[in-house]
Amino acid sequence: MSAALPPPRTPGRYAVGLVCLGNICRSPTADVVLSGKVAEAGLADRVEVGSCGTGGWHVGEPMDPRAAATLSAAGYDPTRHRGRQYDEAWAARFDVVLAMDAANLADLGGRRADGRVMLFGELDPVAPGSEVPDPYYGGADGFEEVLEMVERTSDAIVDALPGLLEPTASTGDDA
Ligand code: 4NP
Repeated sequence: MSAALPPPRTPGRYAVGLVCLGNICRSPTADVVLSGKVAEAGLADRVEVGSCGTGGWHVGEPMDPRAAATLSAAGYDPTRHRGRQYDEAWAARFDVVLAMDAANLADLGGRRADGRVMLFGELDPVAPGSEVPDPYYGGADGFEEVLEMVERTSDAIVDALPGLLEPTASTGDDA
């Protein structure tokens, strides 16, 4: 069974942060897919999604053209993304920060016991606990695999959101 998302800190709202290394392949793919699915579910006014990279090489740049092409072919719009580097002020906006692989998670200080920082793949309904492999130095197959993992995991996240948005879902730990 896959892990649960932590409760929101503000009742009725939820924010999901996505982190990879360069913020031009995996976390922007997850950002575009999850944002699209949140909008389709009618939750865009209550759910925020954002992404960044632990490295700063691609700050301000659009998505890797291979990641963008994979998203476009699947019907998503990758054009609005610009690279951003992780910092703690960014992370503080989110109820949960999801790292794409174990190295990204280690760079964030490791998994938090309260679940507010964890591996994206912990929510993967098919391969719970899996890492999203870095496609940057590989071929087109890698980008397809990333999209597949991201789509099914985003579906699982969107399925969980209505329950988290109920007023009783909040711990009020930031109130
Ligand atoms: P991402 O892929 O972490 O999925 O965005 C990478 C992008 C760029 C680099 C590494 C990984 N890089 O070394 O520039």
